[in-house]
Amino acid sequence: MGIQGLTFIFLAALTATIPAATLDCTACAINRALPSSSGAKVNYVKHVPLNGSFTGSANDTFGPSTYTGLTSLCAVSVNVPSSANSSFNFGLFMPDGWNGRIITTGNGGFGGGINWADMVAFSHYGMASMSTDTGHISFAVDGSWGLNQPEKITDWGYRAMHGSVLLAKELVKSYYNANITYSYYASCSTGGRQGLKEIQLHPDSFDGLAVGAPAWEYPNLPASTLKQGLYNLPVEAPHHIPPELFPVIAAEVTRQCDPQDGLRDGIVSDPFSCNFRYEQLLCQPGVTSNCLTPEQLDTVYQFYDDFVDVNQTFVFPGLTLGTDASLLVASPNELGVDFFKYWVHGDPNWDLSTFTYADIDLARRLNPGNASSDDYDLTPYRSNGGKILMYHGLADGIIPTKSSLYFYNHVYRALLQKGLSSLDDFYRLFLIADMNHCSGSHNAPWYIGGGSQAVTGVTHSVPGFQDAQHDVILAMIRWVEQGVAPDEIIATKYKDDNVAKGVELQRPLCPYPLQAKYVGSGNNSDPSSWSCRSLY
Ligand SMILES: *[C@@H]1O[C@H](CO)[C@@H](O)[C@H](O)[C@H]1NC(C)=O
Ligand SMILES: *[C@@H]1O[C@H](CO)[C@@H](O)[C@H](O)[C@H]1NC(C)=O
Ligand SMILES: *[C@@H]1O[C@H](CO)[C@@H](O)[C@H](O)[C@H]1NC(C)=O
Ligand SMILES: *[C@@H]1O[C@H](CO)[C@@H](O)[C@H](O)[C@H]1NC(C)=O
Ligand SMILES: *[C@@H]1O[C@H](CO)[C@@H](O)[C@H](O)[C@H]1NC(C)=O
Ligand SMILES: *[C@@H]1O[C@H](CO)[C@@H](O)[C@H](O)[C@H]1NC(C)=O
Ligand SMILES: *[C@@H]1O[C@H](CO)[C@@H](O)[C@H](O)[C@H]1NC(C)=O
Repeated sequence: MGIQGLTFIFLAALTATIPAATLDCTACAINRALPSSSGAKVNYVKHVPLNGSFTGSANDTFGPSTYTGLTSLCAVSVNVPSSANSSFNFGLFMPDGWNGRIITTGNGGFGGGINWADMVAFSHYGMASMSTDTGHISFAVDGSWGLNQPEKITDWGYRAMHGSVLLAKELVKSYYNANITYSYYASCSTGGRQGLKEIQLHPDSFDGLAVGAPAWEYPNLPASTLKQGLYNLPVEAPHHIPPELFPVIAAEVTRQCDPQDGLRDGIVSDPFSCNFRYEQLLCQPGVTSNCLTPEQLDTVYQFYDDFVDVNQTFVFPGLTLGTDASLLVASPNELGVDFFKYWVHGDPNWDLSTFTYADIDLARRLNPGNASSDDYDLTPYRSNGGKILMYHGLADGIIPTKSSLYFYNHVYRALLQKGLSSLDDFYRLFLIADMNHCSGSHNAPWYIGGGSQAVTGVTHSVPGFQDAQHDVILAMIRWVEQGVAPDEIIATKYKDDNVAKGVELQRPLCPYPLQAKYVGSGNNSDPSSWSCRSLY
């Protein structure tokens, strides 16, 4: 049977529906289905008709947003007590045309609020979809809610996710009077951390993860975020790089690091093969503009070098060449500052200029929310048949790309000790050339239908290419359910990131450590002109 036939059977299975629901989509029925021991209570239940709209309440996101064009479904919001003085909420969509699966999505930064946007996208596949507010309401780059609120931080760290997964599964089973066939997870950033944490604590929660740019490490990640923000300060100092010089740095990186993938096209897709000569950026007699002083050049080194502190202690990987460091020009990001200010020191007046390694040490001892997903031995998850599809933009200025390589390689170390010689049978990592944090790029293909990857005009999946070769959600499902591992995923760039304007280019993403190389001839916008090759 050809690929066409397989795809057909696969999509047919995805849309197969289960007989009509056996519970009514009413608060009364849903309340009765919640285990009384959980103390959980329905906030509201609404039935959304086909092509109808849904608006969450101001209690479960940081402002009501309306989503339109939905599939017909039962929308549920539930409140769950988590300690004597804390609680969290979760939202659950149960489509009328359910296909037996459930998918959970996560959150961003320190954010609290139900991620209805990704739930809407995933419900279009026919899956039940769930998201928790993590126990509070806030924007992603705000950790002030955690001041003297250890229970709230624990909810954010892992407790709200696990409690929501358990209860959502119970509700889905009762609602449809059927067992769930497969349970999935897809999200980016903090969402990546939440998914990894959940399978480390409870390997049977999910059968597959599609996680992007995971903010998996605490406290070294926020320490690095803070440090990156401090490198270029104060603005009066001789080492400060003004915003207008960042494009100069970017252009020099592209000049030196673009050809390594076999094609000079303005896209740096193999930065790790680049032996970058920073000194090319220096001013010299006769060249006094669009260049850097030696002090400024030291700052560039700091952005891209690993963060190593007292006694040669490795703290966190630096940025990857090709990442636009201008994100770091203004003031240090609250994702670094607030963690130390509110969660570690419990002091809104903490002076970040006093930041030293001792603060990182203190943070490690306090371990706010036990949030780190640093349990590298994923044997229990793998033994359950679990799969991980991870991706990370090579131009991510928020979570250094190399932190995903660090995670991957530490899982590899842990499993090598257990006799496994490769992670490929359950865990694959795809680096996306030129992609920023979770989505977007200058001119490279980046869209794969993952969590928080919104493209103008796209409700879900990859329009025109709704298959497991282009859509990371379908790739995950195929891997879990049919055992077909993704040897490559083709990323898509729509013109101006607007689906109505058509496809601009597509290229394969390769599972690390393979690298996409231009084959030397052919239309370079066509994925068949590229192949995944080993560099060693
Ligand atoms: C779906 O609803 C929108 C309004 O939200 C309407 O403009 C559109 O015509 C509807 N489409 C169909 C197929 O009913
Ligand atoms: C929002 O929360 C407040 C306070 O907890 C509660 O009184 C109100 O009923 C909630 N509204 C909804 C729509 O859940
Ligand atoms: C909850 O109780 C803990 C422990 O007593 C306390 O530290 C925290 O401030 C309380 N949080 C709220 C929301 O009252
Ligand atoms: C769920 O699966 C169990 C074990 O296979 C089976 O006993 C039970 O009848 C199933 N429940 C439903 C509602 O299909
Ligand atoms: C660094 O190493 C020295 C010598 O072993 C030790 O005395 C000191 O406590 C270490 N500093 C930190 C911050 O760990
Ligand atoms: C913290 O999380 C790790 C897994 O990431 C787990 O092994 C450990 O038991 C947790 N510790 C506490 C105190 O919950
Ligand atoms: C190259 O491929 C792109 C994407 O498929 C297409 O739009 C473009 O027309 C092709 N160019 C040539 C010269 O064939």
